[in-house]
Amino acid sequence: MFIETLGCAMNERDTEHMLAELKEKENYIATNDFKSADLILINTCSVREKPVAKLFSELGIFNKKKKDGAKIGVCGCTASHLGHEIIKRAPYVSFVLGARNISKITEVLHKPKAVEIDINYDESEFAFKDFRSSKYKAYINISIGCDKSCTFCIVPKTRGDEISIPMNLIIDEATRAVSLGAKEIFLLGQNVNNYGHRFSGNHEKTNFTKLLQELSKIDDLRRIRFTSPHPFHMDDEFIEEFATNPKICKSMHMPLQSGSTKVLKDMKRGYTKEWFLNRAKKLRDMVPDVSISTDIIVAFAGESDEDIKDTIDVMNQVKFEQVFSFKYSPRPQTEAEFFPNTIDSDTASARLTSIQELHIKQLDENNASKLGNTYTVYFEELYNDGFVSGRSDNNIVIKVKGSEELLGKFIDVKITSIGRTVLTGEIIN
Ligand code: SAH
Ligand code: F3S
Repeated sequence: MFIETLGCAMNERDTEHMLAELKEKENYIATNDFKSADLILINTCSVREKPVAKLFSELGIFNKKKKDGAKIGVCGCTASHLGHEIIKRAPYVSFVLGARNISKITEVLHKPKAVEIDINYDESEFAFKDFRSSKYKAYINISIGCDKSCTFCIVPKTRGDEISIPMNLIIDEATRAVSLGAKEIFLLGQNVNNYGHRFSGNHEKTNFTKLLQELSKIDDLRRIRFTSPHPFHMDDEFIEEFATNPKICKSMHMPLQSGSTKVLKDMKRGYTKEWFLNRAKKLRDMVPDVSISTDIIVAFAGESDEDIKDTIDVMNQVKFEQVFSFKYSPRPQTEAEFFPNTIDSDTASARLTSIQELHIKQLDENNASKLGNTYTVYFEELYNDGFVSGRSDNNIVIKVKGSEELLGKFIDVKITSIGRTVLTGEIIN
């Protein structure tokens, strides 16, 4: 079995779940070579148009070069959104499995041309078999779906309404992962800080802060990360818990999308430029070494030169440690699909370039200031050039010369040279 995973961390976790189900219930073994696989799966993303176009060209290649009789399955968000059309356009595809139907992987495998894409299907309490691609860090879903209706975003149409996973199930899963050696957990949801408002069964309402407090009680758990929180739900209680709980890693994703209050309103994001700046400032004041990352969309329909200046103004005030920036890509089934005043592609490219250049300038300045600093690194990855890498609490990727005996350990490292995405250091004894 071969699986290619596109898109976000939630897709990576869905892939782990599919691998586990197929291994335990159908005796499949994973391979990195699709040509020798009996089953080829693509776990797709539909958030922008590009990956969707890429899907059909890739399917063509898989079909041409696959082993005789091998099945091809299309899973994930594009499966949810295109459904039957996938089999129409690529008739050799054996089944289509939506992002909210992952638990049915072992069923569709035996149903030729099955299309399971119900976005109301509730797998929030499904007991998935377990598999983890990392021994050191455990991804854990805390909710499925998304209840927001950002006008640019297709996710609510591919992952359905938001349902939280019961707290006891999350704690059991985290405890199990920690007992198997993971010292870090990574909580996943489209909107993690809206956790606890709706469950499918009878569970008392709760919130994300309470979940973080309960998880922190797991003894050998050292680090908690999460993605993505929503700026709208960053209330004082949440920021204070983030700041004061020593197990919560001091890196926060704050998806801005736009710095213009007018564009934010058109996007239905639920906050203003001032609210965002106020939250970022509170974070920086309470947690001096916090890293803040963000997502920015440029050239949303109706975005003026003044609007993009607002985005640049927020970047200059917050000085994000990491910026993921995208050109707006109109998506089917979203409110903004037919918005007027679309931006021509040259203007969109120019705006994207200006955002990216500013970010690189800020990144280089920020990185330069880290030379000589000391960070505690949790080592997770062995490179094949004699280096081992890991992350600081505030999410800086740091590598040192060394071998696998460093993996899974927390070690103090002094930064000796600066790169753009990875810093190099020496272990301090
Ligand atoms: N809830 C998730 C959002 C998932 S989509 C989160 O808050 O991170 C991930 C990112 O893709 C979004 O934050 C947004 O910046 C970008 N994105 C979503 N729809 C898009 C579109 N139609 N065009 C361009 N970028 C988009
Ligand atoms: Fe998309 Fe907005 Fe939800 S970006 S995933 S609709 S919070």
